[in-house]
Amino acid sequence: MANLVVSGVQWGDEGKGKMVDWLCEQADLVVRFNGGHNAGHTLVVDGKVYKLALLPSGLVRGKPGVIGNGVALDAAALLAEIERVRAQGLHVTPETLLIAETAILVLPLHSAIDARQEQNRSCKIGTTLRGIGPAYEDKAGRRAIRVCDLAEAETLSTKLDDLLAHHNPWFKGQGLPVFEKAPLLDYLLDLAPRILPFTGPAWLKLHQAGQAGQRILFEGAQAAMLDVDWGTYPFVTASNTTAAAAASGSGLGPAALGQVLGVCKAYTTRVGAGPFPTELSDAMGDRLRELGGEYGTNTGRPRRCGWFDAALVRQSAKLSGVTALALTKLDVLDTLDEIRICTAYRVAGQTQAHFPAGLAAQFQAEPQYETLEGWRVSTRGIRDWAKLPPAAQRYIQRIEMLTDTPVDLISTGPERHDTIRLKDPFMA
Ligand code: GDP
Ligand code: IMO
Ligand code: MG
Repeated sequence: MANLVVSGVQWGDEGKGKMVDWLCEQADLVVRFNGGHNAGHTLVVDGKVYKLALLPSGLVRGKPGVIGNGVALDAAALLAEIERVRAQGLHVTPETLLIAETAILVLPLHSAIDARQEQNRSCKIGTTLRGIGPAYEDKAGRRAIRVCDLAEAETLSTKLDDLLAHHNPWFKGQGLPVFEKAPLLDYLLDLAPRILPFTGPAWLKLHQAGQAGQRILFEGAQAAMLDVDWGTYPFVTASNTTAAAAASGSGLGPAALGQVLGVCKAYTTRVGAGPFPTELSDAMGDRLRELGGEYGTNTGRPRRCGWFDAALVRQSAKLSGVTALALTKLDVLDTLDEIRICTAYRVAGQTQAHFPAGLAAQFQAEPQYETLEGWRVSTRGIRDWAKLPPAAQRYIQRIEMLTDTPVDLISTGPERHDTIRLKDPFMA
């Protein structure tokens, strides 16, 4: 039975949460494999709004969730999120949520580092200040505290010594208060009995689920253009966000991943700084922001808005091995007379079909546009391709052609069922 990876192909906030919630009707298990509570996924089900950052979106439908080893886990943030969604009636228990023992922990010192690093940078990234980048730095530096360490008091104590020996001289040098070991140890020992019941060998459960013929949905956070290797570096997040990370971030081999659904908006947005060729710094950009409600789920920051960048999505689709696209927020374009699509870039006097790697080139890349007619009627809530206005159908078909990728799903509103299925994305 084919599994499916759901992965963003722009700069995040494409509506992955909505699509995972819709798709997981056909799945048995949903796995988060990257990122942390820098993610923010909004789901709307019969008017009820769920805001998730760390919990796999399948929990809203009662589908069991796994937080994979690739996630940077702020355990206190997770517990607070669990309380919040429990108050909304969701069942999050050790029977419905499993956390990989080898996931790294995001600690209070990481957000302190994040904040000061951001202050010190000449090029501000505009991080979420959740400590995600510094936590992954510690992972690569082999000094991160992992979930399994919570079960070994001595290991925890020794590792904290090493962690603080590394970070405190830096805090001192920055004129910031150092972190004392005792309160940090108490903090972790207090979290331990509340987190450990949820933890276990997630990789094994996933293998067993696969063997039992269960279907797994891999829920990506962030997006290809925020990938630490493939995104607009250094204006990226600190982990791999492309679909391949679903394997390393969950403990399954690449052959287990199955199909890859790339999620993109019918236009483009970005939160935080960095290159964005099709950005509209004018009234049209403001109009898209208002029409699309483009304010960050997580930090409330206004999102930068621009036209659909087909060259960028074509590139992301290749980087993630996307087998089909889900095009979201089509309804946001309903009132526009004309809609533009970027097909290529002009860089140093040359037209090129892909986004350049150099930062200056990325900032200078001029989008080459073609203009399509708008449809000027509401598509909001349409659930049937035949009911879409012909101009909207042409827009979608043009996107398929320019991105070399079929559009299997179209979203026409935030509600779960405001979705058109052209083909089953689980199927090759
Ligand atoms: P994610 O991070 O990729 O899960 O996306 P977010 O949840 O951060 O941002 C997407 C926003 O768009 C959320 O507020 C969704 O409720 C909303 N949304 C998703 N699909 C649609 C759609 O088709 N139309 C409209 N108008 N809103 C949508
Ligand atoms: P979801 O899963 C949009 C952006 C931040 C910043 C950069 C680095 O909701 O799509 P970080 O805190 O990760 O070090 O910040 O990455 N960013 C996101 N932008 N959606 C997200 O997640 C994001 N997660 C991180 O705004 O530009
Ligand atoms: Mg989001």
